[in-house]
Amino acid sequence: MKIDFSATKLINECTEHLVAVGSFKDGGLSEGGKLLDKVLNGMISKSMQSLDFKGKIGDAIHIKSPENVAFYDVILFGVGEASNCQLDFEKVGAKLGISLSSAADKLFFSEVLAVVDLRGLAADEISLIANGLRLNSWNFDKYFTTEKTKPKRKLKGVKFLCDDPDAVCRFYKPLELVTNGVFLTREVVSEVPNVLYPETFAKIARKELEPLGATVEVLNEDDMASLGMNSLLAVGMGSEKESKLCVIRWLGADNPDAAPVAFVGKGVTFDTGGISIKPANNMHEMKYDMAGGGAVLGLMKALAGRKAKVNAVGVIGLVENMPSGSAQRPGDVVKSMSGQTIECLNTDAEGRMVLADALWYTQDRFSPKFMVNLATLTGAITVALGQEHAGLFSNNDKLSDELTESGKLSGDALWRMPMGDVYDKAINSTVADMKNIGDPGTGGSITAAQFLQRHVNGLPWAHLDIAGMAWADKSRSLCNKGASGFGVRLLDALVEKYYEDK
Ligand code: BES
Ligand code: ZN
Ligand code: ZN
Repeated sequence: MKIDFSATKLINECTEHLVAVGSFKDGGLSEGGKLLDKVLNGMISKSMQSLDFKGKIGDAIHIKSPENVAFYDVILFGVGEASNCQLDFEKVGAKLGISLSSAADKLFFSEVLAVVDLRGLAADEISLIANGLRLNSWNFDKYFTTEKTKPKRKLKGVKFLCDDPDAVCRFYKPLELVTNGVFLTREVVSEVPNVLYPETFAKIARKELEPLGATVEVLNEDDMASLGMNSLLAVGMGSEKESKLCVIRWLGADNPDAAPVAFVGKGVTFDTGGISIKPANNMHEMKYDMAGGGAVLGLMKALAGRKAKVNAVGVIGLVENMPSGSAQRPGDVVKSMSGQTIECLNTDAEGRMVLADALWYTQDRFSPKFMVNLATLTGAITVALGQEHAGLFSNNDKLSDELTESGKLSGDALWRMPMGDVYDKAINSTVADMKNIGDPGTGGSITAAQFLQRHVNGLPWAHLDIAGMAWADKSRSLCNKGASGFGVRLLDALVEKYYEDK
């Protein structure tokens, strides 16, 4: 979706196919709306009256335009009570995008451009509306080979009319760069598992991050074996694809030696369950079991893209969990990089085995201020929180509060879950230091978090279980059905609000 900002005054001389004008609280029309209403002999105000249109957020009217004017149809949309909350403006933009898109699809043209008059709103408000519209416009259609099978999406560009385009662009640029990160996450999470596996994921990381000035290192199985990462390696043993560890560094703080913030992702590019194999129903969904790693990748793109004044590292444990003659067995015991031994009682509880070594490696090598890991770790978190909140588990109240606040600002909502010794006991094993599952059916998301906590060496840490949030079963305002990009906006907001040099 092409988005630009312009100060063109004469909305009635625009040559776009669709014209949208906003209506504010109490049904007042935007400046351009009033002008257009005159040109159209009161058509807009008459429609507003007859349909009792009050300009509530999300309300929209599609007005067919007479043929003797330069542009085609008019969309009147509600901006509502121009609230102070950033997220509300983004949601207005998303709803505007939905209205424009459905109007565009009804037009005769194969490609449709729209012009939206928002004069009267502040520069930051306009930029948020534009960003919300763009976030909503994303979709994954690379595998359709004909126009016939491809879902129709005619709207190709939106021009926003505003009083001061330069001021709007200044606000819009960082939002655009963070959204680029969200889109990268959505792309890799949507990518199919015969195309996306550890090696190709790492290639994408190099291609996307290096041009932005970030460094990308990729450790292979030999490198990880020398480091003693036997827990991560055990998960990938059954796969033909080589496991990798992707380490991305962005040094943006004034002091390049300042301790970094660290983000760690579960990158299981496909999770069959291994020898403890999953049922066939919906197994294909496990292509998104790398969404935690995908979020770390998108976040690093956002931070490097907008040149955030922070030192940040992103570590992604990349493996494919397959059953085969060389796969790990239930009952195997491995020694992780931390020196602790793990009895693997269920090869489908693999994410925690990957993260155990990725977390230990991260704290050992980088001594970060804190670590936040993201993982589609347990089905149980969706039972507990549905598709409304990701589970937040932490050993640190300050980090936990900062994350919760960032969740509210960004729309990537979090809900803190309990942890403690009583849950920790459940993963004690009879043959090793710990086992990789707790008691079946009891607090499965919490015992998984306890397992991770045993690998953070006491550092401030938070685990986000995003199993219910990474993939949206129904469309939401800022994202369509499918990969959500959850975590990128959240952690960018965390960095921006609490950890950047000012
Ligand atoms: N990748 C799954 C968790 C998952 C489930 C993510 C549904 C997204 C949607 C994870 O590796 C897994 O299989 N967890 C098991 C743990 C169990 C064996 C203790 C689960 O949740 O059933
Ligand atoms: Zn699994
Ligand atoms: Zn998994």
